[in-house]
Amino acid sequence: VKKPSDVGADFDDYARRWRKDEYGLESGYDARGVTRDPGRADQVQRPGDEWGDVAPLREAYGGLVADFVAPGPVNVLEIGAGGGRSTAVLLDVLGDRVGEYHVVDVSPVFVEVLKERIEFPVDVHIVTDVDLSGLPVEHFDLCLAQSSWSHIGIYDQYRYLRELRRVLRPGAPVYVNGQFLLGVGNDWTWNRFVRRVDQIDRDIQGVFHEFTSFAAVAEMLTRLQYDIECINTAGFIARRGVLLADRSLATLPGPISAPFNRSPHDFLATRVVNPVTLPDGGPAPPSPLPPAAAGPAPSGPDRGASFRQLLKRIPGLRPLVLAARRRRSGSGSRR
Ligand SMILES: C[S@@+](CC[C@H](N)C(=O)[O-])C[C@H]1O[C@@H](n2cnc3c(N)ncnc32)[C@H](O)[C@@H]1O
Repeated sequence: VKKPSDVGADFDDYARRWRKDEYGLESGYDARGVTRDPGRADQVQRPGDEWGDVAPLREAYGGLVADFVAPGPVNVLEIGAGGGRSTAVLLDVLGDRVGEYHVVDVSPVFVEVLKERIEFPVDVHIVTDVDLSGLPVEHFDLCLAQSSWSHIGIYDQYRYLRELRRVLRPGAPVYVNGQFLLGVGNDWTWNRFVRRVDQIDRDIQGVFHEFTSFAAVAEMLTRLQYDIECINTAGFIARRGVLLADRSLATLPGPISAPFNRSPHDFLATRVVNPVTLPDGGPAPPSPLPPAAAGPAPSGPDRGASFRQLLKRIPGLRPLVLAARRRRSGSGSRR
């Protein structure tokens, strides 16, 4: 597991080495990895622009703001804003409604690109660990994590969600988009996963993706008392619930249920969701096997039968066994 500061150093490196003419716009994915569209190279002007067309982001953020964000001014917290590709789109979608805009990132070099790109006075917080301690309590109306959760390991995802409960207003949505969820039979995600395995086999370092699963996300959100609006193959929308206690749920009150949409990108647009209920995590049923006994294993009828077979098959074994038994019982009577 990489530390956030190491991930930040990797992104710093990436941004430093970045050359405009080396990138086409990411246009899709196949079994070998990302496919690029050199024909749309003009859309790649700054580090991070290569991570895809912004039109789907604009559509998703439009739906997010219209359907999930409370009316009035919106204080935004963006985790992993990088070069500001997603920030520019969200600011544009919010227009006059934007209140404060805070950005948390681990890569100071990448965030310099954001500062060049964005005119709006963004509050930048460069962190070296999961740390939202500098942010005000119950202050934010929306949290966006675009293409950053896939660089954050499962423990730090939990730590962020735990921290976010403190800084989000009750009911405020967290929108994570562009993470990689296994367990839902999505070929695109699976191919990315296998590609990562291949990188590990060949000891390839640098920027890479983390994976988690639908069930892990659903459980984490439920135990941290978020209300799940929807999970898809690339992320989720969940609201900071009204907290029952200051701690996450150590014991679940019942099965975990979450609406799921197969679409990796447009669940905000389609709103087609199917409820998925995970098995109840109640007490385990009694094991059908007897607990392992201390001391020598009991000799059951099967052992006796196979021993008798052995005696029949190996000539000379029977008299040896009988002699050994006689010796044992004799030594026992002398004590
Ligand atoms: C792939 S970029 C995405 C940038 C931008 N949101 C976009 O969509 O173009 C991922 C960003 O997440 C940041 N990041 C990675 N781990 C992080 C962490 N633990 N906390 C905050 N930001 C992190 C990286 O530094 C990088 O800027």
